[in-house]
Amino acid sequence: MLRIAHTLVSQLRGAMERAFPDAAAQAREAGRPLDPQLAPASKPEFGDFQANGALPLAKPLKQAPRQIASAIVEQLQADPSFTALCLEPVIAGPGFINLTLRPERLTAEVAERLGDPRLGVPSVQGSAPVVVDFSSPNIAKEMHVGHLRSTIIGDSLARVLEFRGHPVLRLNHVGDWGTQFGMLITHLKQVAPEALDTADAVDLGDLVAFYREAKKRFDDDDAFQATSREEVVKLQGGDPVSLKAWGLLCDQSRREFQKIYDRLDIRLTERGESFYNPYLEGVVAALEASGLLVVDDGARCVFLEGVSGKDGKPLPVIVQKSDGGFNYATTDLAAIRYRFGAAPDGDAARRVIYVTDAGQANHFAGVFQVARRAGWIPEGARLEHVPFGLVQGDNGKKLKTRAGDTVRLRDLLDEAVERAEADLRRRLQEEERSEDEAFIQHVATTVGLAAVKYADLSQNRITNYQFSFDRMLALQGNTAPYLLYAVVRIAGIARKGGDLEGSASVAAEPLSYSEPQEWALVRELLRFDAVIVEVEEELLPNRLCSYLFELSQVFNRFYDQVPVLKAEGATLRSRLALCRLTADTLNLGLGLLGIATLERM
Ligand code: ARG
Repeated sequence: MLRIAHTLVSQLRGAMERAFPDAAAQAREAGRPLDPQLAPASKPEFGDFQANGALPLAKPLKQAPRQIASAIVEQLQADPSFTALCLEPVIAGPGFINLTLRPERLTAEVAERLGDPRLGVPSVQGSAPVVVDFSSPNIAKEMHVGHLRSTIIGDSLARVLEFRGHPVLRLNHVGDWGTQFGMLITHLKQVAPEALDTADAVDLGDLVAFYREAKKRFDDDDAFQATSREEVVKLQGGDPVSLKAWGLLCDQSRREFQKIYDRLDIRLTERGESFYNPYLEGVVAALEASGLLVVDDGARCVFLEGVSGKDGKPLPVIVQKSDGGFNYATTDLAAIRYRFGAAPDGDAARRVIYVTDAGQANHFAGVFQVARRAGWIPEGARLEHVPFGLVQGDNGKKLKTRAGDTVRLRDLLDEAVERAEADLRRRLQEEERSEDEAFIQHVATTVGLAAVKYADLSQNRITNYQFSFDRMLALQGNTAPYLLYAVVRIAGIARKGGDLEGSASVAAEPLSYSEPQEWALVRELLRFDAVIVEVEEELLPNRLCSYLFELSQVFNRFYDQVPVLKAEGATLRSRLALCRLTADTLNLGLGLLGIATLERM
């Protein structure tokens, strides 16, 4: 109902200006035109919207707010475009104006959305690119549950932004550079040289083990450490043998990551840390030129404003170590310049979003501050860290396997699908249904992956989240299976002969509703556009989840209490229209969360 809300705001503002021309002129001069303060009604019995703009006028006008409200209402009622939209406003409490839309306007909105693929969500035109930096695992290490969260949340944000019409760059900022390659290559040269010149000689599991051994040797053995450093220098200097080895290691990891992305239906463009190597010197030079750079104990750094360590001294962002090496932060600074930079040597983005665990909040706050002070963030552009909490086990501790190891993503997804399959087989047996294997595999895979994604997305991402297969696979509650089941129920109506598609085509006859459950569903359906725009703004996918959950609940109440297929004529058609729009909204909404739906389950 965004469009209606916009119309109401301008009608209300017009009424306020006519009622209080002097105050309006003053407000305009001060650059703050009168604000009707329109918000959704706090309770359904108050109507659809409430306008609170009379209250702040009480002081300047030296009048009681209720009196002000009634002057505004008088003007509203004299405006025919307003009376065509709303019933007579009601003044409540200290001076709120409660607004209720005319039923025929609500049904007209429903009719407009039938068959509209955007379901009333406006699309932005000509937006500059938006970068979503997400997933971003590290080469030669396993992708862990933290990367899974980043992948799922980042993908859903990218989908919402794309749906709104923004050109989105989905960037995988993989950790593919740095000292770890020096030690890994040195170690492999000694223990598994074939890994360095033959593709697929070792698999990722082995590589992870080699990496662990290499790290241990690096920490314990000075000679090994020295050789490793020489190896990094060679690699950074472009030595062909080292580069080839590095390339093979990256390919190996990349293939493993891709398997996970394929399974989860995630699209990403890899642009790893190494991409920014040619721009690192430029970062240091530019910081030097702008006078921000300080040499401290041989290291080049920028001291942060307003961020100090335990000793009370400002903390630095180190951009070049005393040995000449660059840091994670340097690469991120180069990436910011590139992403906001003009094409062809930049992305010309105006919004850059980073999806990582909350543990990196200080890193990003520091890097963003340096970029801002260096003048690298264009006027009006947005640079946002989207942090999320830890994934914990049932016991509230960090998620681990029984043996105490970090959980591999592959295993976690496998288990979700296996459990979904077991649940399904049990249900089939109870219901004495028989289905073929292809059906069972398809449903189990869809439900298992949906459950993992939805459990993650439906939490407020800032808080830690407890991973529980039992909870995420439950048919009741705010879970993927509950939502998928609502879609299946509606598909069932069509199978029983309900002409859902046809509900849109008989446009001649207006829709009509009489039951409170119908009106509740109408109003819930019409909230969709505002929810999408809110997620685009606040980057909180859990808002979309809560909405879809509420919609399913309101739909189930309607479907349990109001006969659909037994109704006739215009009533049947109007109810089928609600079923169809609910299914379309759930399909689109779940699609924006990266979740596929089913016709039967
Ligand atoms: N590779 C990093 C990690 O695993 C995440 C990178 C996030 N993106 C960025 N531009 N720093 O923690």
